[in-house]
Amino acid sequence: MPERPHHLALDAVVDLDVPGPTISRHLYGQFAEHLGRCIYEGFWVGEDSDIPNTAGIRADVVEALRELSVPNLRWPGGCFADEYHWQDGVGPRDHRPRMVNTHWGDVVEDNSFGTHEFMALCELLGTEPYVSANVGSGTVQETSDWVEYLTRGDDAPMARLRRRNGRDEPWKVTFFGIGNEPWGCGGNLRADQFASLARAHATYARNHGDNRLVRVAAGASDDDYSWTETLMQQVATLGDAEPRDLFQAVSFHFYTFAGTWGAKGSATEFGRDEYWATMRKALDVRRLIAGHAAVMDAYDPQARIALALDEWGTWWDVERGTNPGFLYQQNAMRDALVAAVHFDAFHDNARRLRLANIAQTVNVLQSMLLTDGARLIRTPTFHAFAMSTGHQDATALPVRERSPRAHHVVGGTPVATVSASASTKDGAVLVSLTNLDPDAAATVRLDLRGAVVADPVGTVLAADDPAAHNTVDAPDTVAPRPLDGVRLDDGVLVAELPAAAFATVRLTLT
Ligand code: AHR
Repeated sequence: MPERPHHLALDAVVDLDVPGPTISRHLYGQFAEHLGRCIYEGFWVGEDSDIPNTAGIRADVVEALRELSVPNLRWPGGCFADEYHWQDGVGPRDHRPRMVNTHWGDVVEDNSFGTHEFMALCELLGTEPYVSANVGSGTVQETSDWVEYLTRGDDAPMARLRRRNGRDEPWKVTFFGIGNEPWGCGGNLRADQFASLARAHATYARNHGDNRLVRVAAGASDDDYSWTETLMQQVATLGDAEPRDLFQAVSFHFYTFAGTWGAKGSATEFGRDEYWATMRKALDVRRLIAGHAAVMDAYDPQARIALALDEWGTWWDVERGTNPGFLYQQNAMRDALVAAVHFDAFHDNARRLRLANIAQTVNVLQSMLLTDGARLIRTPTFHAFAMSTGHQDATALPVRERSPRAHHVVGGTPVATVSASASTKDGAVLVSLTNLDPDAAATVRLDLRGAVVADPVGTVLAADDPAAHNTVDAPDTVAPRPLDGVRLDDGVLVAELPAAAFATVRLTLT
């Protein structure tokens, strides 16, 4: 289809002297589950592998992920977390018991990647751990012992066990998940049942020494606001009881696909209708964040308790010939655009939303990286994350539109074709601009007021076809390049975005 001419898709104002909330770096978190080839092959190849590694952890994967400044990594699940018994994953590897990974491919898990390997991975990445406890089939004692093992420094029983297993110093653990999807794979519980269990587990997930856990209560699916309401009533705030807050965050999960859960669509073979259905679904994340935040506001107007979207991203039908339980999918330009509109929604809701984890880092769902034996590719989603690192811990600068944005009608619903957000940090302003229209370039004008900026430098990720993707034979089909023609007209940033493009523009505050 011939590309239509440029049109003014967004005309907006950014007040540089009216700062919004801090965009927590933890909104750019990752998720690694014992699922398919994420942990095994993706992160872990073992010390004896021909693939270069550091104590068994793939060197190329670590090197690539360091480009993303990964702020936190969630592990071991997902559904897997609720059948994982952490003591099976410590001690000499050849003595570790095996188990069946019933959720993901019904394969035998040999527990060779366990707590010590995960914490070593976090150290190599320079990332903060987000450990998820087993509430579905585990005990409160297991939860208590795991936290003691991880974070206690004296000669407590679990600290002694850790030392016997080769680690003297306790680790610092930031995030601690209590359960996962308890309404489904995590036990098929009702919200009130889970609330009781979660209170018990959280009580015994102690703060040892100076370690302070951010306890995350496993939350709703999509727009199940009643789940959030039950958690806020029964779990998150305990009124005058001490400690007042058993939990520091409440989560929810939201996945993007074009079709239905039964037939989600292909990652790379899709037409315009599926493309736009995907975008409409992705943009719905704004409604969901606002809905959960509104429920939380009623119980916690100060926003002490964070909202966490600790699983998000695209979920497509698996690639032909791969194990249906391994959730392996390709990753196209369309996926990068889905990520980009999520980032904008995160920035706009940064006061309440302070933790997010895309699913998942390597070889599963919307991955940053795909591996094939010793080979590795960076996906378009990887590049969208890399281009956005400057927003981590920056101050949000709300983008206010002066006139309605361009839109495309999808099933009777108008879908904005352009998305934007901005932030400031370290004497610079970073603007993110996304043109969702796969058939038309777009002009964006942002009136940057309240301070003087200079030297705009643009980077763009774009492809002629939103299905374009990287392969081991063509790893740079979709890769960032300079965005030409970005200019400042008397304080107004003007950028011309190609069709289906994600761009960032960095400006200096003078
Ligand atoms: O990310 C894959 C799975 O999706 C997780 O294990 C589960 O929590 C969710 O349903």
